[in-house]
Amino acid sequence: MHTTQPSCPPTRQLTFGDLPIAYDDRVLDPRPWTAAQSAWIAELSHGAPSGPLLELCTGAGQIGLLAVRASDRDGVLVDISAVACEFARGNAAVAGLAGRVEVRQRAVDDCLEPGEIFPLVVADPPWVPSSRTGRFPEDPVLAIDGGSDGLDLARECVSTIDRCLDPRGAAVIQLGSIAQADALGDWMSERADLVAAEVRAFGDRGVLVLLRRPARPEPA
Ligand SMILES: C[S@@+](CC[C@H](N)C(=O)[O-])C[C@H]1O[C@@H](n2cnc3c(N)ncnc32)[C@H](O)[C@@H]1O
Repeated sequence: MHTTQPSCPPTRQLTFGDLPIAYDDRVLDPRPWTAAQSAWIAELSHGAPSGPLLELCTGAGQIGLLAVRASDRDGVLVDISAVACEFARGNAAVAGLAGRVEVRQRAVDDCLEPGEIFPLVVADPPWVPSSRTGRFPEDPVLAIDGGSDGLDLARECVSTIDRCLDPRGAAVIQLGSIAQADALGDWMSERADLVAAEVRAFGDRGVLVLLRRPARPEPA
């Protein structure tokens, strides 16, 4: 009897920052501009408490791995996709970071161990509104579909960040537009102990938003 194995798409590779990253059509192609997210986390690392960084929605792992390398911290990388996690583990090993990185195949809203606190969080949720995912036929729907306004997963990331961010820590979340950053900021103002402290726009490719705990007045 003949059995046919489902064939995998061909593995491709690019250099992200200075890291070789393998991926295939089952995960989102790494986008070179997003190395700015790793660089921002490395910049923030100087003023942050010690401890590992967390990446939500890691895909093939490139943003988190570059941030781990640049900040000289350990990392926990989370994605719901088994294929993404396999690539993230493989890419960590090739970068010599396997001993510094834990890859968790978990959902954003169920990825934390009890009591876990992180000084730095990177989040790269899907942010394309569902009605527009058809414009990107090459991209896996799981990687880009952010629900009706594109912010379903971003809100889940913010809720998780709110549960685990050190009071002196910082998070950088990736979104599609300034309008989405404004909408998420409005949502956060009522439901999370976080503020959008800075927004950096990268033309029509996307935006990065820095999230921090609000400043509290010193006790008298
Ligand atoms: C926009 S891609 C980001 C991939 C990579 N970090 C990047 O920026 O190129 C979003 C990722 O989120 C993952 N994802 C989607 N829903 C998720 C969920 N509920 N929990 C965890 N990961 C999820 C997808 O598998 C995908 O890898």
